[in-house]
Amino acid sequence: MKKVKVAILGLGTVGGGVYKLLERRRDEMPQRAGARIEVAKILVRNAEKAAEKADRSLLTTDWREIIEDESISVIIEVMGGLEPAGSYILEALRAGRHVVSANKDLIAERGGELLQAAKEHGCDFLFEASVAGGIPILRPLKECLAGNEITDVMGIVNGTTNFILTKMSDEGMEFSDALAVAQELGYAEADPTADVEGLDAGRKVAIMASIAFHSRVGFSDVYTEGISRISAKDIKYARELGCDIKLLGVARNTEEGIEARVHPMLIPSTHPLASVKDSFNAVFVHGDAVDDAMFYGRGAGEMPTASAVVGDLIDIVRDMEWGCTGRIGCGCYRDLPVKKIGDTESRYFIRLHARDRAGVLASIASIFGNNGVSIAQLIQKNTKDGFAEIVLVTDTVKECHFRDAMTILEGMSVIQKISSIIRVL
Ligand code: NAP
Ligand code: HSE
Repeated sequence: MKKVKVAILGLGTVGGGVYKLLERRRDEMPQRAGARIEVAKILVRNAEKAAEKADRSLLTTDWREIIEDESISVIIEVMGGLEPAGSYILEALRAGRHVVSANKDLIAERGGELLQAAKEHGCDFLFEASVAGGIPILRPLKECLAGNEITDVMGIVNGTTNFILTKMSDEGMEFSDALAVAQELGYAEADPTADVEGLDAGRKVAIMASIAFHSRVGFSDVYTEGISRISAKDIKYARELGCDIKLLGVARNTEEGIEARVHPMLIPSTHPLASVKDSFNAVFVHGDAVDDAMFYGRGAGEMPTASAVVGDLIDIVRDMEWGCTGRIGCGCYRDLPVKKIGDTESRYFIRLHARDRAGVLASIASIFGNNGVSIAQLIQKNTKDGFAEIVLVTDTVKECHFRDAMTILEGMSVIQKISSIIRVL
């Protein structure tokens, strides 16, 4: 029976899960993949610490020991970060090694370059785990939905923030306590800023948009806004309006260009995305032939992410068996413009404090009206020290017009403060 040797770079949450899953499936790999799969080496920083998770004889702290071992055919990069992961992957591809990675930071930044290196060397470079953890989404976009003109990819693609918003909303937990639990469970990135400020989701949107629309979208093209300013009050008002607050990643291919953005959004509580809770993720896709499709599952964590990594590995081993590696590479054959956030359209929820006296609401309404912003709903309550808390929801408006109106409002003496601005689906 043939044997394929692999190396794992990093033995943290995902690396540990990959090692466990390969052990669990070891005896069935010949039937599933067409060859036995053997973990030959694992790159770690601290071998003593890592020995708790894997056989000590497999551990090395020296990358050269892996790259110079020609019996190793596949490298699984699950250490994260831009460097040295980027250099290791490039070196591996140039040496004819196939690569699996879960590293969205790197792929959103240098995906085009790495895919080009894979093509030049006839290698597979697969990264299903980089978006939405255990949910199959990249391969469906590249293969099963390849006949479609995809126009929309939208959803909840960060497990940590969805977990935090669920705990704040359903259990009244404070933001920092919910974040600490998400970290304990292995959902959050080493630096949770990337999760909380929408950067992690932004990287996933860049990867999905590039694949769905066949045009490279970099991380710097994605507008990102996180959840750190969402308060319990916003969640309470959203509920009054029949909505939940979710951090959404949105990629749309419009006639004026691609929209790629991440921000919190009020969504109706009856919307299917509102029922996506905890660390679960869900992605909606709209294509001209398939119509609507939704992908749902665990978007983060040890074993769900390992599921995606090991799926990629099995695909590579099958491709090696059939002599067809490098078959699914970069699909970006278009060069579409990416729209500026000011040119996108949305409805908006605004929570502000304004002086509670005759004519104030009328002056707010006239500023909105003069800038082409129409008000759809208004709630006023909680008057304190002469200031009332007012919640407004607008009709759909171009973001630049909305911002012009907000700039004028901010300068008005009757406005004490504008506490929240959240888009509404
Ligand atoms: P993690 O728990 O921090 O694990 C990373 C491991 O790699 C750590 O054990 C770290 O060692 C090791 N490492 C880092 N740099 C190294 C180096 N230069 N040489 C050797 N070892 C090194 O991170 P993770 O959550 O498993 O995430 C790994 C990757 O998967 C990231 O790209 C992440 O974005 C991606 N991902 C994670 C999830 C998830 O749910 N966690 C889901 C999808 C994708 P130390 O312990 O010594 O720091
Ligand atoms: N930190 C990420 C999340 C891990 O919370 O979704 C999965 O990419």
